[in-house]
Amino acid sequence: MNNIEQDNLMEKLQSLAKRRGFIYQGSEIYGGLAGTWDYGPLGVALKNNIKESWRKKFVSSRTDMYEVDAAILMNSKVWETSGHVNTFSDPLVECPKCKNRYREDQVEKSADGFLHCSNCDELLGPPRQFNMMFATKIGAMEDSASTVYLRPETAQGIFVNFKNIVDSFHPKLPFGIAQIGKAFRNEITPRDFIFRVRELEQMEIEYFVNPAEWEKYFEYLKDEMIDWMGVIGINTDKVHELNVAKEDLAHYSDRTIDFEFDFPFGRKELYGLAYRTDYDLSKHSEGSTISLAYQDEESKTKFIPHVIEPSFGVDRTVLALLASAYTEDSPTEGESLETRVYLKFKPSIAPVICAVSPLLKNKPELVDKAKFVFGMLKSEFGRVMWDDNGNIGKRYRRQDEIGTPWCIVIDFDTLGEGGGEMKDTVTIRDRDTGNQERVAITDLISKIKEQL
Ligand code: GAP
Repeated sequence: MNNIEQDNLMEKLQSLAKRRGFIYQGSEIYGGLAGTWDYGPLGVALKNNIKESWRKKFVSSRTDMYEVDAAILMNSKVWETSGHVNTFSDPLVECPKCKNRYREDQVEKSADGFLHCSNCDELLGPPRQFNMMFATKIGAMEDSASTVYLRPETAQGIFVNFKNIVDSFHPKLPFGIAQIGKAFRNEITPRDFIFRVRELEQMEIEYFVNPAEWEKYFEYLKDEMIDWMGVIGINTDKVHELNVAKEDLAHYSDRTIDFEFDFPFGRKELYGLAYRTDYDLSKHSEGSTISLAYQDEESKTKFIPHVIEPSFGVDRTVLALLASAYTEDSPTEGESLETRVYLKFKPSIAPVICAVSPLLKNKPELVDKAKFVFGMLKSEFGRVMWDDNGNIGKRYRRQDEIGTPWCIVIDFDTLGEGGGEMKDTVTIRDRDTGNQERVAITDLISKIKEQL
């Protein structure tokens, strides 16, 4: 990113995301719904690439990981037992005059040393704990027994399936159970675009270990998390580890590292890595009266495994990637002298891998050949776009703005009209350098694959 005012960056990202079909305000035509965002086609493609990369790294390339997809609605006893009903809360302060509500730790003290309402300047009331779980009713009877919660973390869907996985697959320790899915939090003050939302998506792993080895696997998973951030193209110079102080640890954790990222609005939590001890499995053993102890065949001992939990937010990953990829430059020569905006996504994560265009859209011979190349690439890569709108310079700009690494143009040389030796070759233009290369159509797939 060159010389972009950090203050403006969020506005620029949000505006680009809306204009180009990555992310829209939730329920926009009805004035929106705070803390909700809708992903458009390019946002969905980006999220899918993130999730696929995560799955490849943490699940499918390994032999010790089991993926589940648990129900979002779970028996309320899960949340009573896990401690969320009593402790999953934030301190809320309310303005007695205008009734605006704030999270206490997000309001700065005024010069008089007290917390004031940012809307009407009234002194805010005393803090009280506000439970962030969304409650709803299940079934036709509206009594207290019908209350269920939308899960605030995907983790519990993993813990309640621990015994199922052990019984079905007989894994040896250490092993992990992974899950990708939605979670819901009634945040008091959703803010900063998709950073703090009420409906979010998580990618979580509960890695079950022998308690004697928890530190070794904590370090190991920390390194794996950092490695993956680099794989998808998060700017790791902007990632910082924060050892969470004892008094700030979640109720289930004995040690947590927050990976913080330098977002345009400040350094904030991107991911978490927690040592959850045997807290959850022990609680669920008691709560369900079904033993979740593990029989270790090697040592012939039975114990409750301990857990290391790497936890990733998908939405925060999208935001960190957008912030990492956003680039502006003012070329001094070449295609155009206007400021160029481009998203420097890694090809493996870019929503569109390449765009295919005929040089002119009113020349059927060019269009037919371009359609052939488009069809060939589309069936190989899927994430390929047809673009024949406006002149070539405009097409390049449009593709740059959504982060497409390569633009392929079919011109008269492709048809053999420039003398013949360039017949069946195309130009492939690189997003970051603007350089163009001539490549044989038959080599295109391997050329792109090399760089994915
Ligand atoms: N299972 C542990 C857990 O849920 P957490 O630190 O509360 O821990 C894990 O959340 C991750 O989920 C965070 O690091 C962040 O990436 C994401 N996350 C949490 N709350 C979020 C919110 N309101 N909006 C967007 N992402 C959120």
